[in-house]
Parts: sequence; C-alpha cells; structure tokens
Amino acid sequence: MTDQRPSLMELAVAVLATADPQGKVERTATAVALWTQGLVDIGHAQAPSRPARPERPILLSPGAMPKRSTGPKGRIALIHALAHIEFNAIDLAWDIVVRFGSQMPRAFLDDWIAIAAEEARHFAMLADRLSIWGAAYGDLPAHDSLWEAAQLTQDDLSARLVLVPLTLEARGIDITPQTATRFRNAGDTDTAAVLEAICADEIKHLAAGIRWFEYTCAHTARDPQAAYREILATTFTGTLKGPFNLPARAEAGMGESYLAPWLT
Ligand SMILES: [Fe+2]
Ligand SMILES: [Fe+2]
Repeated sequence: MTDQRPSLMELAVAVLATADPQGKVERTATAVALWTQGLVDIGHAQAPSRPARPERPILLSPGAMPKRSTGPKGRIALIHALAHIEFNAIDLAWDIVVRFGSQMPRAFLDDWIAIAAEEARHFAMLADRLSIWGAAYGDLPAHDSLWEAAQLTQDDLSARLVLVPLTLEARGIDITPQTATRFRNAGDTDTAAVLEAICADEIKHLAAGIRWFEYTCAHTARDPQAAYREILATTFTGTLKGPFNLPARAEAGMGESYLAPWLT
C-alpha cells in the first residue's frame, strides 16, 4: 500500500488555496502539527501566483481606502486592518515555505512553519476582538499592498526577506506598542494585551528574517547592510521612516547599522 499522506509542500499549497479564513486557520494548524510531529515529508508543490481570498473583504488600492474615523468605528477599522495584515501573513509564511524552502536548511522550514502558526493565532485573536464588538473580518474593505510585495519578490528570497520581514513586519514592530498603549489608556486592556502579544511574536519573525537574510548574504558574499539598502532601493515603493523601535529591532538582531542612513 502506498502512503497517501500529503507532503509538507502540498499541505502548504492547500492552505494557500483555501479562501475561507476559518478554514485557512484550521488547515494551518493541521499542517503545523503534522510537521512538528515529524509525520510528513517535505515533498514538492507549485505555489499559486495568488492565494485564494474570501469574497469579503473587498480589496481596494491603498489610495482608495476610506479614511478611518475615530471612536468605536475607528477602533473596528483599525483592528480590521490589522486582522487583514495577519490574514495575509499566514499566506506569506506558507508562500515562503513553498517557493524557497526546498533549497534551504530544515531550520528554515521550522522557522517559517512556526511563524505560520503564530500568524494564524494573531488573525484568530484579532477576529475574536472584532466579534466581541459585533463586527467580523470582511465587514470593511481592505488593501492588497502586502500581496503586491509578495509578487514583486516571488523569485528572490533575499528581496522577499528585505521587503516583508525586514521592512513591513519591522514597521509593525515600530508602531504596535503605541497602538497598544492607546487601547490601554482608553481602558481596553484586553485589546492592548492582544496587540502586545502579537508584537512580542513579530520580534521573533523579524529575528528569523534577519537570520536568513544574513545566511543568504553569506552564501553570495554580500555585505548584509549594503544589500539591504540596495534591495530596498529597487523594491520598496514606500518611504522608510521612523520613529523606529530601535530596542525591539536590536533584540531581533536588526542593529542600527541597517538603518544608519535613516537615523541622521
Ligand atoms: Fe503576525
Ligand atoms: Fe509576522
């Protein structure tokens, strides 16, 4: 009898092909459990150019997003936007596994599979906050810029690491502590605690990003700080700006030398 169990790469593609948010979270948990128990082979599969998306939220270009109001509606809009980032982050973790994992050491797979599990937990925690307020993920429009970053870097691991963990996730680490403090000061300690827990995990994701970026630089004899700046100049359409959470970035191994041009 042949073994019909899907491989890790097939399980990862199955998560990417799942549109339903709850289904994406559940399939992630199953894939992570099978991998951590050593029950699946790495295998082979082709990553889709875009992961499946639910009918809602409607995706708009960033410039077409409605302005966020303040008050209870603003609170829902903010957490909805963060839930959307985490939903994309689940797919970004599985996408990096499928596109780049088979040429990398096993520890690379371990890191990004652990990250996929955490992104799914982050999404679920934020969706839970929305449901407590009578809202749900999909109620509001969302933007598609995170997946645009993924598509721009689909053939280049160094560029993917620079753009996603080292720039976009690092930006989250810069901003999230202040957002958590705003919720805490407004008396919403539960939401503040969720955001603080997410930020602690994101520091680990940045650490993995730095670790593997420096690994790829060592293999191509590139200076990491110079490569970071070069790749950013050619792939990042936004502007890198502070204030930076320098202690958290340093904790993740992203020392000030990476940011030197932006710290003057
Ligand atoms: Fe996250
Ligand atoms: Fe993350």
